[in-house]
Amino acid sequence: MQQTLAIIKPDSFAAGNAGNILAHLEKEGFKIRGLRVLHLSEAQAGAFYAVHKERPFYGDLVKFMTGGPVVPVALEREDAVTHLRQVMGATDSKKADAGTIRNLYGTDIEQNAIHGSDSPENAAIELGFFFSKADLISAH
Ligand code: RTP
Ligand code: MG
Repeated sequence: MQQTLAIIKPDSFAAGNAGNILAHLEKEGFKIRGLRVLHLSEAQAGAFYAVHKERPFYGDLVKFMTGGPVVPVALEREDAVTHLRQVMGATDSKKADAGTIRNLYGTDIEQNAIHGSDSPENAAIELGFFFSKADLISAH
């Protein structure tokens, strides 16, 4: 079993799609191991996406991610990192395959409904951003 981090982004939370997205993830076999609702500060969002600091879209990304509450979710499943990325769809919602979360609930390349860790190494780092180790101990 592997754990990964998803974040239901401000666009999909504000649209009332948090529940739909959680249901979608559960149907895909993910177990929810951690769940929070919080409004990121600029410093938190900036640190979370620090890898993109030099990219032209960084400022807009931080503004977007601090525009309203988000829902970080710790998810567990076999092959969780890869499977979550498949279920999310392409970064640009307009290009995401039919039936993916970004296709269903995203708008464009920025307002794309959900974040997912892109490697097991980053999953471990990103889970630590929102959850303590004690929260994430597997129940079985
Ligand atoms: P994420 O990290 O949120 O799961 O998304 P991702 O891996 O599919 O895409 P990434 O390249 O890591 O980009 C992070 C987020 O930045 C916003 N973005 N805006 N305006 C743009 O050209 C642009 N490109 C990316 C998106 O919100 C993207 O998810
Ligand atoms: Mg990414």
